[in-house]
Amino acid sequence: MIEFENVSKVYYLDFAKEKKTALKDATFKIKDGEFVILCGRSGAGKTTILKLISCEEKPTSGRVFFDKKDLTMVKKSDAHLIREKIGFIFQDFKLLPYKTVLENVAYALEAFDYDENKINDEVRQVVELVGLDKKMDCFPRELSGGEQQRVSIARALIHRPEVILADEPTGNLDPYNTRDIIKILLKINEAGSTVILSTHDKEVVNALKKRVITIDEGRIMRDEEEGVYFL
Ligand SMILES: Nc1ncnc2c1ncn2[C@@H]1O[C@H](COP(=O)(O)OP(=O)(O)O)[C@@H](O)[C@H]1O
Ligand SMILES: [Mg+2]
Repeated sequence: MIEFENVSKVYYLDFAKEKKTALKDATFKIKDGEFVILCGRSGAGKTTILKLISCEEKPTSGRVFFDKKDLTMVKKSDAHLIREKIGFIFQDFKLLPYKTVLENVAYALEAFDYDENKINDEVRQVVELVGLDKKMDCFPRELSGGEQQRVSIARALIHRPEVILADEPTGNLDPYNTRDIIKILLKINEAGSTVILSTHDKEVVNALKKRVITIDEGRIMRDEEEGVYFL
């Protein structure tokens, strides 16, 4: 469970001469296994919410809980314990250009001391899940945008995360590939992971019929089950 309790986030710029309030008094709960859309225009505060969940940022005030753990109390050196439970998917994929599909996904496991067979098995499973088994040995530049995003989803899944944070994952994709990626996210959610999807794509929001939290200029405007696009 993820819980925001009156969370505000202020970024200080230029040695605190300037400040930017990115999130104002946000309160909500996300239960295990939910599929939630964070909907808002560019600059609304979507990425800030995701970074507060992944311990990349700390709230300026209020508290964020992850599995009952108060993230404001987590030390920087312990943040990885939270991040191990999270899979990230980004708009720009963030793949390693000189590694193949298989290597890009395996790379996320190599820091651990697994033997090669185990790495191979696990990687093959997630790559098959995203439908790229025939492209295992391709480099990112040989793949379409949609295929590259599927690699990054496979990479996010390799640790079997409790929570997937997808930050505008379809922002660079055409409608056809967008539909594909959303279908995979739904499949992951049905398999039990919590999915938090940030987007400002009206078609995506209206097609999903999932819970929608709408943010505007750092404020939560609406929070509705089976929500629709409202901006
Ligand atoms: N590291 C940062 N330093 C200063 N301002 C930031 C930083 N990150 C985000 N902001 C500002 O906070 C606001 C919310 O940003 P963000 O959470 O990235 O929104 P979104 O993901 O919805 O586009 C924006 O005005 C943005 O410019
Ligand atoms: Mg963003």
